[in-house]
Amino acid sequence: MNPDRRDFLRHALLGLGAAGGLRAGSAGPSPSSPTSATLPPFDASAPESYWSAVRALYPLEPDLHYFNTGGLGPAPAPVLAVVAEVTRQLQAKSEHGHERLAAARRTVARFLGADETEVAIVRNATEGNAIVAAGLPLAAGDEVIFESHAHPGGSFPWFQQGRQRGVKVKTFVPNPADAADNLARIAALCTGRTRVVQVSHITAPTGIVLPVAAIGRWCRERGLWFHIDGAQSAGMIPCTLPDLNCDSYATSGHKWLGGPLETGVLFVRRERVEQLAPPLVGAHAAEIDEASGEFRLAPGALRYEYGTRNAAAVLGLAEAVRFQEQIGPARIAARGRSLAARVRAGLADLPGIEILTPAAPELNAAMVTFRSTRVAHDRLFERLFKERRFRCRPVTEEKLNALRVSTHVFNSPAECDQLVAAVAEFTRG
Ligand SMILES: Cc1ncc(COP(=O)(O)O)c(C=O)c1O
Repeated sequence: MNPDRRDFLRHALLGLGAAGGLRAGSAGPSPSSPTSATLPPFDASAPESYWSAVRALYPLEPDLHYFNTGGLGPAPAPVLAVVAEVTRQLQAKSEHGHERLAAARRTVARFLGADETEVAIVRNATEGNAIVAAGLPLAAGDEVIFESHAHPGGSFPWFQQGRQRGVKVKTFVPNPADAADNLARIAALCTGRTRVVQVSHITAPTGIVLPVAAIGRWCRERGLWFHIDGAQSAGMIPCTLPDLNCDSYATSGHKWLGGPLETGVLFVRRERVEQLAPPLVGAHAAEIDEASGEFRLAPGALRYEYGTRNAAAVLGLAEAVRFQEQIGPARIAARGRSLAARVRAGLADLPGIEILTPAAPELNAAMVTFRSTRVAHDRLFERLFKERRFRCRPVTEEKLNALRVSTHVFNSPAECDQLVAAVAEFTRG
């Protein structure tokens, strides 16, 4: 093993972080149950030293300014340590470790305020969305409504149901200026054939926070299935799923939660599980009763998981959640929001910059999408990345031709200011 990698793994397993300096958890790491790194206590009079300690746990290259958590979130060292260690343990005996998934599922459910029987660990948000689209009992001509800004991971599963089952897709353009009007736009599309309403909790192209709890209440009154694509919300803002009035919710583990690649969560409300058929089943999703020979689906959301899984990744996701609990979901949300507000304020002062993310605090969170009237978005993206190592995300959806900046716990006010300065320089005159 090369020495750098060996050193990194040793630090990660001890919870020291890439730059060292942090103590391991009080019980100490044990090979069978790696523990989260212990962060220093948060001191409101010197918050930046706390956030520097957080940043030190991310093996991001020191000169990389990573502002694309909305695309893919880096995992902190304790998560990588769990993945490496559990992989090693399982490979040493060539075991799949399936029996270890239940504890991880419980941890993830607790984080989302859900019951463990309501949560399935899936591979990504797309898979969760697709299970809902494919599993609901819909007939040709039944209608689904979602926003025109939906990510392909949210919209394609429905377009496929359009092809396969004749489900009719209707879209509304999200209103970035008036939260309540988004519900009015959904209501305007609703007919006697509407069966499902789906929205992104936070839209991917411009980071609009949609009023999910109000939409959910409205759907419940009408007996419509309400699904939330939460790929951009879990880990960015606190998400207590029962409060969102949804029937189902899907999210990625590998974005704001900082979990390993190819992890995701599907939540299905206990009372609704029997209405959502699992489109794919296999071992663990069902069983055959020995006495009667009856084929029975697994209880609760377990029925949406099947076959051999990567237990190391699933346990890594649980560790990511524990890491976020250690910082605190409210503190994470406040940090992301304040950094995004800082970027926004800096950009707003620049000539020729148009900000597409809503200004109203109830409509925005930790993402800012903007464009320049002077420089094409792809050129600006390239210069920021190649010349200064700012990794943003080009937004081509709906021909917006803009750039999206995501701010998370490992970002700093200083690099936000540097980003604004670089945009100023590259869009000058
Ligand atoms: C709103 C939304 N839904 C779904 C996805 C797809 O996520 P995943 O790659 O985890 O399936 C994304 C990814 O950016 C997203 O922003």
